[in-house]
Amino acid sequence: MKPAIYVTRLLPEVVMDRLREYFMVRVNPHDRVLTRKEIMKNAASCDILLCLLTDTIDGEIMDVIPNLLGISNYAVGYDNIDIKAANARKIPVCNTPGVLTETTADLTWALILSVSRRIVEADRYTRTGRFKGWAPLLMLGQDVYGKTLGIIGAGRIGRAVARRARGFNMRLLYHDQQRNSELEKDSGAIFCSLPDLLSAADFVSLHIPLHRDTVNYISAGELQTMKRSAFLINTSRGQIVDETALLRALQKKWIAGAALDVYYNEPALTPGLTACNNLVMVPHIGSASTETRTRMGLMAADNAVAIMENRKPAALVNPEIWDCRRSIRS
Ligand code: GLV
Ligand code: GLV
Repeated sequence: MKPAIYVTRLLPEVVMDRLREYFMVRVNPHDRVLTRKEIMKNAASCDILLCLLTDTIDGEIMDVIPNLLGISNYAVGYDNIDIKAANARKIPVCNTPGVLTETTADLTWALILSVSRRIVEADRYTRTGRFKGWAPLLMLGQDVYGKTLGIIGAGRIGRAVARRARGFNMRLLYHDQQRNSELEKDSGAIFCSLPDLLSAADFVSLHIPLHRDTVNYISAGELQTMKRSAFLINTSRGQIVDETALLRALQKKWIAGAALDVYYNEPALTPGLTACNNLVMVPHIGSASTETRTRMGLMAADNAVAIMENRKPAALVNPEIWDCRRSIRS
C-alpha cells in the first residue's frame, strides 16, 4: 500500500499528479486555510504532512498524527513550524529553498520601482479619469538609478536582489550577522553595521528569516535612523517590521515610503495602513509566478518522497535529527 500524504491546500495539477504517483493523497477540499482543528482531524492518519506557510504546525498537532514521518513545507520560510517540537519528536522537516529566489528578487524590484515612481498611485489616478494632460509637477517620484541600496540579509534572495542593482548603477551596502564574500564578489556590496546601512541607504530591503531574535528587527528607532527620503521594502516576513511603528513613520514622514509584500498579522492589516499613499501593498506574492509555484510544489513533493524512501531530502531544515529520525512502520 502507498503511504498517505495530507496536503493542506490544493497545489498546481502537475504537483498533485507527482504526489499521486507515490502517495495516497488526501487534500483540503476547500479553497481556504484550514483551521487548526481541521488539520488535526484530517491529517491524523497521514504518514507525511505537506503544509503551507499559513498553517501553524506545533507539537500538539504533531502528536495527533501518530505515524507522522516527516513534514514538507511548501515555502522557503519555515517559521510556521515549531522546529524544536519536531526535533524533540525526531520528525524531519523540509522546505523549498533556491527555486523561488529569482522570483522573489523580481518582486522586490517591482516594489522598489513601484514605490519610488509612485506606480500604483499613478495607476489609480489614470484609471479614475484624473489625467488631464502632461504636467511638470505631476506624480514626481524619486530616481532609482545611481542611488544607494541597503540589503539586510545576505542569503540567496538578498544576493539575487543585489545582482539586479548593477543595471541601475547603484551603490550597494549590506548587513548580516557576518560578512558574505560571495555577495561582495558578485555585486561589490560593502558590509556595514545596521545603523550605518540605515542612515546611508535610499532603499532598505529586508531578506532575513523570521525567528525569535528577528521579531521587530525594524522598529521605531531603526525607522528614525533612516533618511527621510528613503524607502523600506519588505518581502521577507511581516513580523520583522513593527507595523505600528511603520504606520507612524509613514504618517509622520520619518521615511518617504514603504512597500510591503508581508504583514505582521497577515492577512489582517494594521488599521490606518491602507490610508497611506506612500505605501505600496501586495498580498504575499513574492514567489507567485506560475513557474515558481510549480517548482516549489515539485520540490516539496520530492522532499516528501525522499523521506518515504529513506533518502536524505535535498532541503532538510533539521539535518541534526536525520540519523535518529522516526522510522517507517514495520
Ligand atoms: C514565502 O513566503 C516562502 O517562504 O516561501
Ligand atoms: C516627456 O514625455 C518628455 O518628452 O520629456
